[in-house]
This record gives sequence, C-alpha cells and structure tokens, in this order.
Amino acid sequence: MTENSRTREGAAKGSRGGTMRLVGAFTGMGGLETGLARAGMRTVAVAEIDPFASHVLGRRLPGVPNLSDVCGIEAFPDCEIVAAGFPCQDISQAGHGKGIVHGERSGLVRQVFRAISNMPARPEWLLFENVPFLLSQHGGSGVAWLVQQVESAGYRWAYRVIDSRAFGIPHRRRRLFMLASRTQSPEHVLFDGDRAAQSPIRGEDTPCGFYWTEGKTGLGWAVDAIPPMRAMSKVISPPAIWRPESADFVLPTIEDAEALQGFERGWSAAATELKGGKNARWKMVGNAVSVPASLWIGSRIVGEGERSSFRSVELLEGQRWPAAAHGGGGRRYRAEIGEWPGSEAHGTLRDFISPEAPQLSFRAARGFLGRLESSYLKPPELFREHLRAYVAQGGGAGRLAA
Ligand SMILES: C[S@@+](CC[C@H](N)C(=O)[O-])C[C@H]1O[C@@H](n2cnc3c(N)ncnc32)[C@H](O)[C@@H]1O
Repeated sequence: MTENSRTREGAAKGSRGGTMRLVGAFTGMGGLETGLARAGMRTVAVAEIDPFASHVLGRRLPGVPNLSDVCGIEAFPDCEIVAAGFPCQDISQAGHGKGIVHGERSGLVRQVFRAISNMPARPEWLLFENVPFLLSQHGGSGVAWLVQQVESAGYRWAYRVIDSRAFGIPHRRRRLFMLASRTQSPEHVLFDGDRAAQSPIRGEDTPCGFYWTEGKTGLGWAVDAIPPMRAMSKVISPPAIWRPESADFVLPTIEDAEALQGFERGWSAAATELKGGKNARWKMVGNAVSVPASLWIGSRIVGEGERSSFRSVELLEGQRWPAAAHGGGGRRYRAEIGEWPGSEAHGTLRDFISPEAPQLSFRAARGFLGRLESSYLKPPELFREHLRAYVAQGGGAGRLAA
C-alpha cells in the first residue's frame, strides 16, 4: 500500500508556456471541449464527421477549424492536450459488443494515436472518455489495450469513473475518464476529492427518472435525477420523470436535456436548420460528455500546485480493472477513490424541467405499465398507483404527447 500525496508543479501551462492549446477529436456537440475551454484552455481544432454536430460546432466554435474525419488527419496541429470522447457503440452494453480492439467505430481511437505519433512534438496531455463498461467488457481487454497504447506513446496514465451528479446536475451519468501525461503525474490531477456518493434520498414529493421504454427487467430508476441519457438513432425516447406532487409523468424537452448535461439551453438548436435536425439534437445530447465533469478535469489540469491525497495498491496481472487506477512503464495501481469528486450540492430535478415539458403519451404509459405489471420489478407502490391512474385517465390527454 502506498500513500500518494504531493504537490503538482508546473502543470498549468503547456510545456511551451501560454494558454494551453486543445485539439478535440470526435467532438460531437463539444461537451468535452466546452468544459476544458471554460477551465481556461483554447480550442485550436476539432475533428467531427457528423453534419449536424459539425453545423453546431460551426456556430458554437466560430473560427475553430473542423478537421472532419480523424482517419484523414495526418498529424494533429501543435497543442498541449488532445481530448477524445471516442465512439462507444462497440463498448456500450446496449451495443454490438465488439470492443475497442475489434470494433470498427470504437476502434477509431487508434487514429488518435496515429495522428499524435506524426506530430513534431507530442502533446503533454491526452484525455479520453468513454463508458465504464470498457473496464469489464471482454475481461477488460479494451482498457488493457488503451493503457498499452498510451504507455507505448510515452505517457503515464490515470483513469477514474466519475458520476456527473457530483457536479450538481441531476443526471446519473457514470463515465470513464483516462488522463495521460508525458511528464506529469496524472493521478494527482484526477484523484482529487472523494465525497462518498451522495445519492439523494426519496421523499414524498421527490421526482424520479426512469426509462419508460423498459419495465421488464429494469427501470433505470433514478431518485431526483434522470438515468443516463443515451444516443438514440431513430426514435426519440428520452427517460421519463414521475412527479408524485402532480401524479403525472413527463418527458424533458430537448433544452431540459441540454441543461441536464450542463450545456446552455438551446446549445444545439442550430442543428434544426438542417433536415432531420430534431432527432439529431437528441442523439448529440445523448452522446455528449457532461460539461461540468470536463470543466472539473480541465480546472485540475490547469490548476497549479494543488495537493491530492489518495491510497493505492499494486494491481497484479489477472486482477480485474477497478473503478480508478494509475500507472506507467508497465506498473499498475488500483486507487482507492470514489466516483464523486465535485463539491457542489446535488441540484434538484424539479429545477431542470421546464413548464412546457410534454406529458408521457397514453400509448407509451400503457405499454410501460403492461411490461411493469408482468415483471418482478418493485418500484415504490405510489409510483405504480399513479401510473395505473394515469393510464386509466387516458394518459396526458389534452397536453403535448410524446
Ligand atoms: C461519443 S460521441 C462524442 C461526444 C463528444 N465527445 C461530446 O462531448 O459531445 C462520438 C463522436 O464521434 C464522431 N465520429 C465518428 N466517427 C468519426 C470520424 N471518423 N471522425 C471524426 N468524428 C467521428 C461521431 O459523429 C460522434 O459525434
């Protein structure tokens, strides 16, 4: 067991001084980049292939070149940090499960290592983001591969699973962030703050989020929060919210969804200037990194001389990948640190749902109730009662429907 506690020095600026320059790959609507920029970094280029996301980026990051397809980038422009929230389709539990190594889409992260290797000077920092399932899928071979790539490129690394709720947004969203550095100790950046998970306790009137598309084997139940928003390809099916106070069930608007990811409301509105933009907005929001999470990481990278204190123990060959680890040069350590680094109080879901939030449609509610009634799931009895009454009354009749 080792005790790691020391002061980071000289982490703030790029190795060449001045504001830290950031290149974003797989930018989407820019969650990762927006948080890092708010922390004081300057985005010098992004790489995004999707026309809707590119359109939003053009509006939100005017003057920042979009290098488009990462496969066509010979080398990234000179910068101190490359950030890549790479595609998760091959990693998500809901996905096809090929993983990073064999998956065509998640495997695109290879292109990041290739484009870095062609840079005259490699960036000081690399930041990757993806779903925590990477740690267990195929026995953790994906994260082992990522660690190996990072180390071969000459970096030390640290990763931590972080829940967006730690930063005050009522959105349960656990994501894996891996930070790597050529000369610094990334574990002293990522392993700061460890509040025991402060999940809110349900009171009589506490709104709860759930997936109305489920109901057989799970609900995605979240107290005073929504369950993780997902990228949806064709159909708009955001999680629903039960409001015990009014005994009803609503869906967040797209602007509510943006706010629940820490974006300014209307951030992706420019997408609707293109045909199909309405669905595309939901997809982008579901794909995005929560802005406050990347802001926190960015502030930790940019902040100089802060102390971090954590305990770690060597991770032996064959042991499972834990929720937080660090290493370099072939040595690996499991860190004893939780998923809630932030310091903000959990925001209440009520404050994020606008008055225009549409009611869950009768059809959706009836289908969900049918699945729930034939399952072994045990949501609060009041929830079931409200749902039965809601369906008996014809759902949110008279109001906007899903
Ligand atoms: C998980 S999302 C990234 C979300 C983003 N990090 C954010 O915070 O909003 C992955 C993105 O990679 C983009 N993408 C997929 N293939 C790409 C490629 N070959 N080149 C550039 N971007 C690509 C997708 O269009 C998608 O927007």
